[in-house]
Amino acid sequence: MSQQDPLAQIAPSILTADFGNLAQQVRDADAGGAGLWHLDVMDGHFVPPLSFGKEVIAAVRAATPRFIEAHLMVERPGEQFADMAQAGAQRLVFHYEAAGSAEAARALAQQAHDLGCEAGIAINPETPVEALYPLLDTLDEVLVMLIRPGWGGQQANLDLLDKVRALRAHLTAEGRAMAINLDGGVKPTNARACAEAGASILVAGSAVFNATQTPRQAIADLHAALVW
Ligand code: DX5
Ligand code: ZN
Repeated sequence: MSQQDPLAQIAPSILTADFGNLAQQVRDADAGGAGLWHLDVMDGHFVPPLSFGKEVIAAVRAATPRFIEAHLMVERPGEQFADMAQAGAQRLVFHYEAAGSAEAARALAQQAHDLGCEAGIAINPETPVEALYPLLDTLDEVLVMLIRPGWGGQQANLDLLDKVRALRAHLTAEGRAMAINLDGGVKPTNARACAEAGASILVAGSAVFNATQTPRQAIADLHAALVW
């Protein structure tokens, strides 16, 4: 890693992007150094809002060569896996709370792997990270929510970084390297603290797609907070 390499990758979330110019917005963020894409699928049940499904994932897939993860904030994630994979998602991230049990979560991770995708599990603020420890051997990523899921533009609860510190220490003790992703309220002012807590990926929605900057400039600002 050189001095100019950021401490964590930025994964833009398009919830507040200009959907009328989506491909252009994606290409602009890529030019600014987006590391991968984080696409938020919401079903109106697991979280109150609806967002989008496979058609928008396919549109982003056509606009970028980068890795795509789908964050499924849906009640029955397994029913969406095949469509998401076919649309071009390479990692399927489902909620532990939607799975309902460690056994069901393990089966969902296996289902993602059987489709040729990576598997990630997201946890809401109230779910202890220790609940995932028996599952780590089946996972490619853990995603820690710093906000209540469902809406972009909320303020991150940085007390939840303790979960990341605990998980990173646990992974290190087990000799495992795994992506830890933080989602919700990431901004240039808190990005460094997020990375230093042990996150390797930072989702950024409204910090990238907003009225005051281009996505390219916004990602440059995040990277500036993340270089050594
Ligand atoms: C919220 C989503 C997040 C969110 C990120 O439910 O999972 O990915 O849109 O947006 P910001 O960065 O604005 O919190
Ligand atoms: Zn998300």
